[in-house]
Amino acid sequence: MSEHRIECTVNGESVSVDRVPSRRLLSDFLRDDLNLTGTKRGCETGTCGACSIRVDGEVVKSCLMLAVQARGCNIQTIEGLACGDDLHPLQQSFMQCGGLQCGYCTPGFLMAASALLEANPNPTTDEVRHALNGNLCRCTGYTQIVESVLDAAKKMQGPPEPQHGN
Ligand code: FES
Ligand code: FES
Repeated sequence: MSEHRIECTVNGESVSVDRVPSRRLLSDFLRDDLNLTGTKRGCETGTCGACSIRVDGEVVKSCLMLAVQARGCNIQTIEGLACGDDLHPLQQSFMQCGGLQCGYCTPGFLMAASALLEANPNPTTDEVRHALNGNLCRCTGYTQIVESVLDAAKKMQGPPEPQHGN
């Protein structure tokens, strides 16, 4: 099997890894070559969304992409969502609203939700459900996950503008 050098940007850092087999999945590259184990392996058939990441801004199931296809791409994983010690509002809301139990699905949900809120900062409940329909959770029943995303959207919009009366 042929091997390749993979150069890409991951969470804002340039990375270069030699001798990556042509058939290595992007999810395995992240976990096994870069030790970014926040991206989870689940079904590995594109069904569960546990491996969801962002590639050039788009939500991608990293089990459906080869590492070689990510050459030159800008990748964001769950490890890049927080800003230093400051959790992303989505991470705060998932904790506060009970959006996770075992947490296995959570990185994938957070990455999909982050893309939604960038594109649509004030989504409806239906829009949240639609955006997350590629992610499965066995624990929560989804209601708290949707509430978490709506709560994060409010946080990210900040306090309402003060009303100026005459
Ligand atoms: S592990 Fe990729 S979609 Fe399930
Ligand atoms: S919190 Fe356990 S699978 Fe979603």
